[in-house]
Amino acid sequence: MAITDSLSVTDAVAGVKLGPIDVPVPVMLSPMAGVTNWPFRLLCEQYGPQGLYVAEMITARALVANNPKALRLCRFAPSEDPRSLQLYGVNPGIVEQAARMVVDNRMADHVDLNFGCPVPKVTRRGGGSALPWKLDVFAELVRRVVSVCEPAGIPVTAKIRVGIDHEHETFLDAGRIAQDEGCAAVTLHARTTAEYYGGHSDWQRIAELTQSLDIPVFGNGDIWSAQDAVNMMRQTGCAGVAIGRGCQGRPWLFADIRNAFAGSPERVNPTLGEVGAVIARHARLLTEFYDGDEQMAVHDLRKHVAWYLKGFPVGGSVRRSFMESESLEDIDRNVGQLDADVPFPEAIADKPRGRVRYAKKVHLPYGWLDSRELSVEGRESLFGDDPMDASY
Ligand SMILES: Cc1cc2nc3c(=O)[nH]c(=O)nc-3n(C[C@H](O)[C@H](O)[C@H](O)COP(=O)(O)O)c2cc1C
Repeated sequence: MAITDSLSVTDAVAGVKLGPIDVPVPVMLSPMAGVTNWPFRLLCEQYGPQGLYVAEMITARALVANNPKALRLCRFAPSEDPRSLQLYGVNPGIVEQAARMVVDNRMADHVDLNFGCPVPKVTRRGGGSALPWKLDVFAELVRRVVSVCEPAGIPVTAKIRVGIDHEHETFLDAGRIAQDEGCAAVTLHARTTAEYYGGHSDWQRIAELTQSLDIPVFGNGDIWSAQDAVNMMRQTGCAGVAIGRGCQGRPWLFADIRNAFAGSPERVNPTLGEVGAVIARHARLLTEFYDGDEQMAVHDLRKHVAWYLKGFPVGGSVRRSFMESESLEDIDRNVGQLDADVPFPEAIADKPRGRVRYAKKVHLPYGWLDSRELSVEGRESLFGDDPMDASY
C-alpha cells in the first residue's frame, strides 16, 4: 500500500465538501455519547471554528417516539452551523422515519449514520459496528436515509469500523456501498469491534479506504495532538480527521489542529487558571442544556473535570470536592482553589486518555456471521413482523 508523504507540517490543508456543506477546516468532532452535547460542541467550535462538530448518537426509535431525552440531544447552540446529528438504528424503516423527522422539522444540516458502535447492548442486536456485516441491510438503511435527506440538501455520511474482527472485516465493502448509495463521506475508526478501544487504530486501513473510494474519507483513531492529526493526513492521504477521546477535557485541541493545518506552530496550552475558567463556563452551558437544573449539570460535568485536570498537579481533596459538587456555587468555589499560574502539562496532555481497553467478547445475534445477508427469519427476529417495528 502506497502511503502518501505529500503533507508537511507547514502545508496548508484544503477543506472538504459534504454535498452542499463546506467544511473549510477538515476536522470533525467525532460523536461521543454522553460527551458531545451542544455545550461541549460549542466550546470546541469556539476554539476551532469551521470544522464539523457532530452530536452524540441518537437512537432512531427513541427519536420517532419523541422521547424527551433523545429530543434534548437534538438541540443545538444558535451559533452551530452546520448542525450535525448522528442517527443509530438497525431497522432501515425506523431510521428512515427518524431521518424524515429530521428533514421535515429542519432539525439538522447533516446526518451521520452510526455503524461503529462496539458496545454489547448495540452489537447483540446487530447494530453499530455489527451491521455492515449484513450487506443487504446496510445498503438498504443507507439508501433509505439518503433518499429522504438528499432531496432536502442534507448530506449523509457513514461512520464505520474496520470490521467485527480481522477474520470478518467489513470496511472496504461498507465504504463502497456507502459511496454507491449516495453518502457524501465516510469516517473510518480503524479498529475492529473486538479491538474496542484497545491497541492502536491501524492508520494503514485509512490509507486503503482512501485509495479505494472517490468520496472523502475522515480518518479516526488515536489523534492526541495537532501533530498526530498532521501525521494522519500525511500518512494516509485522508481528506480529514475525526477527533474523539483526544479532545476530552481539551476542547482547544481544535484550535491547535486548525493552526497546524494552516501551517502555524501556535498551540493553546492553557494555564490551570485558564482551564478553571473553561470548567466554570462549561458548567454554565450544561446548566442551560439541562434547563436550569444545576445539579444535573454539575453531575454531568464530573467526567469532564477529571479530563480537564488530567496531568495538572491538583491535590486529591480539590479533585474530590469537584466530584462532590452539587451546584454552580460549588464549582466556582473549587475553581477558586486551583493555582491559576500552573502551566499546562504538555508532556502528559498529548498522551492517550479516556477508554483504552479491548472488548471482553463480541456479542452478536445468533448465527450473525454465517452469511453476509440477513435471512427472513433474522429480519423477523430483529425487526418484528411489522417492518416499522423495531424491538428497541
Ligand atoms: C465515551 C465515548 C462515546 C462514544 N460515542 C460514540 C457515538 O455516540 N457515536 C459514534 O459513532 N462513536 C462514538 N464513539 C467513538 C468515537 O467517536 C471515536 O470513533 C473513537 O473514540 C475513536 O477515536 P479516538 O481515538 O479519537 O477516540 C464514542 C467513544 C467514546 C470514548
